[in-house]
Amino acid sequence: MLAESLYIDWNNSFEVLEKAYAADLFVLIIGPKGTGKTTLVREFAAKKGIKLESINFSLRTRESHLVGAKTMDNGAIGFEQGILVKSMKEGNMLYLDEINSAEADVLLRLDEALDDRRQIVLKESGGELIKATKGWFVVATINPLSHVGTKELPPQLLSRFPIRLRLEYPPEDIEFQIVKQYASSHDKEILQGIKLANILRQAAAVEELYYSPSLRETIAFAKILDSGMKTRLAAEIVFANIYLQWGSIEFQKVNDIITSMFGS
Ligand SMILES: Nc1ncnc2c1ncn2[C@@H]1O[C@H](COP(=O)(O)OP(=O)(O)O)[C@@H](O)[C@H]1O
Ligand SMILES: [Mg+2]
Repeated sequence: MLAESLYIDWNNSFEVLEKAYAADLFVLIIGPKGTGKTTLVREFAAKKGIKLESINFSLRTRESHLVGAKTMDNGAIGFEQGILVKSMKEGNMLYLDEINSAEADVLLRLDEALDDRRQIVLKESGGELIKATKGWFVVATINPLSHVGTKELPPQLLSRFPIRLRLEYPPEDIEFQIVKQYASSHDKEILQGIKLANILRQAAAVEELYYSPSLRETIAFAKILDSGMKTRLAAEIVFANIYLQWGSIEFQKVNDIITSMFGS
């Protein structure tokens, strides 16, 4: 794996984060999976030298992950603070990944902390009031609603993140530059793979296909070519086989496109 400093800031997202941080405003990043959201946030924290706490939300994320939980140690009751409380106290950066996969009760606690007072009452710890230290910075991501398991966020929670960054799939020439950070040869084939990915993305966007390949796939395609796999096979393995999940007709549609581009 190459260093994270190889992040290419192709749409000036970095500057938006910087200005938001300076203005003490929280940021929401919106975009499909694999468009560099997590990488951008890590890069930002690293470059600014801010400590980063991250949580990836799912239906199983509980309030206790965020806020903390009571502990019992030899009869003594303690409190183990969660990631939200920790970052507030320390005035660090908090990254809330895929926030629209969280359950309503979890979102409610977040909402409390994120409002303009930036404080939270810990009912878990005798009603202790936690106020965020200056510099506390929160960035959240959401996937578009079409993604499995995602829900619409309540409007008041959305309003806690008034800076909204869009991160889409990059234009082909830029995706090529990005992919080339991770692979050294096969330029022509990589360009073809990116073209293929974009054909599939467009088909998925109009619901002709169920799945939209991300930069993870185009990067994997380049890497597996680097390791010596034949192009046609690499394309099938990285881009076509996944569609078998929706049946052989779906798979065949994609495999036909691959045959027209890479031969049989
Ligand atoms: N602009 C970029 N520059 C360099 N690498 C990128 C860029 N965008 C995406 N990537 C790479 O693409 C892959 C997916 O990115 P990731 O940040 O995990 O996406 P997301 O969080 O949006 O799902 C990672 O390997 C990441 O390093
Ligand atoms: Mg991510």
